[in-house]
Amino acid sequence: MTIVTVWVCKICGEAYITTTDKPKRCPFCGAYDKYLVDSKEYDDTGAWDVDLTEKDKANVEKGLSVEISNALFYKCSAKKVSELDGQKLFKILAKVESEHASVWKKILKLDKIKWEPAENCEADYQADLKDSHAREERAIKFYAQAASESDSPRVKEIFEAFVEVETDHLKLSEVRLK
Ligand SMILES: [Fe+2]
Ligand SMILES: [Fe+2]
Repeated sequence: MTIVTVWVCKICGEAYITTTDKPKRCPFCGAYDKYLVDSKEYDDTGAWDVDLTEKDKANVEKGLSVEISNALFYKCSAKKVSELDGQKLFKILAKVESEHASVWKKILKLDKIKWEPAENCEADYQADLKDSHAREERAIKFYAQAASESDSPRVKEIFEAFVEVETDHLKLSEVRLK
């Protein structure tokens, strides 16, 4: 008999159904499998109701603007590059970074995200890969710093999870950069 499981990601809160073992990454936010739990065993009480210190609030707000900027950049580059690999790569990165923005929106208890200002990108695939690499490096550095500055286990957990996800993104550009 096929076993069908509902997995919940503790980082983004999204659920999905599989007939396989636990996936290695959350398909929405990219969080590692250590954050994926069987929905029957998960209680999300308090996950989205976090008291933020001034410092955490400032860092989470900065995280939100980093994700908005990167999502808009990837959306732009997905449309501009002519290579199919580039279109697919930047489109999925735009989706993942949008999901990260949604996580910060929920933590900040905002009604909606302001998708602005617009970001520029190039039609040249290599130029956008270079930009992507620099953006992911900055995000990793900032999130690692923000994680170390937080006393909230929940906020720290998300910052740490995103360091890992953005590190995956770094590898995607590294194997394509010439
Ligand atoms: Fe997730
Ligand atoms: Fe991100």
